[in-house]
Amino acid sequence: MAVTVRSFAKINLGLAIGPLRADRFHALETIYQTVAAHDLVKVDLSRGSAIEIRCRNPKVPCDESNTCYRVADRMLRHWKQRAKVTITLEKNLPVQGGLGAGSSNAVATMFALEREMKLELAAEERLRICAEVGSDLPLFLLGGTVLGMGRGEQVYPLPELPVLACVMVTPPVAVSTPKAFADWDALVAGEAALTPPNGSATLSKFSRSAFEWLSHLEVSGVPVDGDGDRAETPLLDLVRAGIENDFERVVFPQYPELRDVKRVLEREGADYASLSGSGSTMFGLFRTAERAAQAARRMEAEGLAAMVTETLPRSQYRAQMFVK
Ligand code: C5P
Repeated sequence: MAVTVRSFAKINLGLAIGPLRADRFHALETIYQTVAAHDLVKVDLSRGSAIEIRCRNPKVPCDESNTCYRVADRMLRHWKQRAKVTITLEKNLPVQGGLGAGSSNAVATMFALEREMKLELAAEERLRICAEVGSDLPLFLLGGTVLGMGRGEQVYPLPELPVLACVMVTPPVAVSTPKAFADWDALVAGEAALTPPNGSATLSKFSRSAFEWLSHLEVSGVPVDGDGDRAETPLLDLVRAGIENDFERVVFPQYPELRDVKRVLEREGADYASLSGSGSTMFGLFRTAERAAQAARRMEAEGLAAMVTETLPRSQYRAQMFVK
């Protein structure tokens, strides 16, 4: 029997880029938030010894470079097991859009393959494999609101937010993440010529803003959906705390149409709008699902393909993961 898993997307509620490390990755701090929009990942086992990726989307590589392949391969090696693993990806999310879809697909493969093999990895083994395959994988082991540190792979669960309505727009431009990081380095080097260099200043500022925001959040039980009043406070606090995505400073000048989308989201009533990861997805958070749907309709009328979704708390992330 095949196992099918919903592979949810993430957005970044702010992202601060720190100094380039000796391993050529950048130190960073971010707050990840999973959302309900998802791909489907189906894992099938049969006799033999191979990993096959099937996907109708031509933008998805179906070879050994695929993150799902890399995770499945490491799992089989760890267990010293042989099997023919067929992984079928049904894509709804943009490929390389800043929503962590490829990383999420890989973690969904991990959960599905454990269930298919009737074997479980220890928590630290899951984390090791995920961190090895990419900086954005470990957050999907937790889901919900997650603090990301290190190169993004050190993850800590944060208190749950109330469910927030979200509109995502992915303009058809390909932003290269390594290039965006390199552009950031150039920007910072230019600024360092004017002010004394302090590569960690962005991280300290982000920590303070995140603290200010999170300390206002109620550490309460299960969030309530569709209640505009509950959504209002964390949203306004998020804006007030000045939580931003540093990538906007290098990506917007190159792709001004992304800045325009942010303005449209704000004009259409988003309380908070931002680039996700290094883009190109822009998202807006709204007080109610009705406001989000209305904004999406108006944006569609202007020719912007908008996807309406909502933030997905950790409890729901887990409960909704396996397709019954
Ligand atoms: O970890 P991941 O495979 O997603 O990283 C892709 C690329 O993005 C890295 O090779 C590196 O160039 C850049 N990166 C970085 N600092 C990070 C994460 C990624 O410079 N914290």
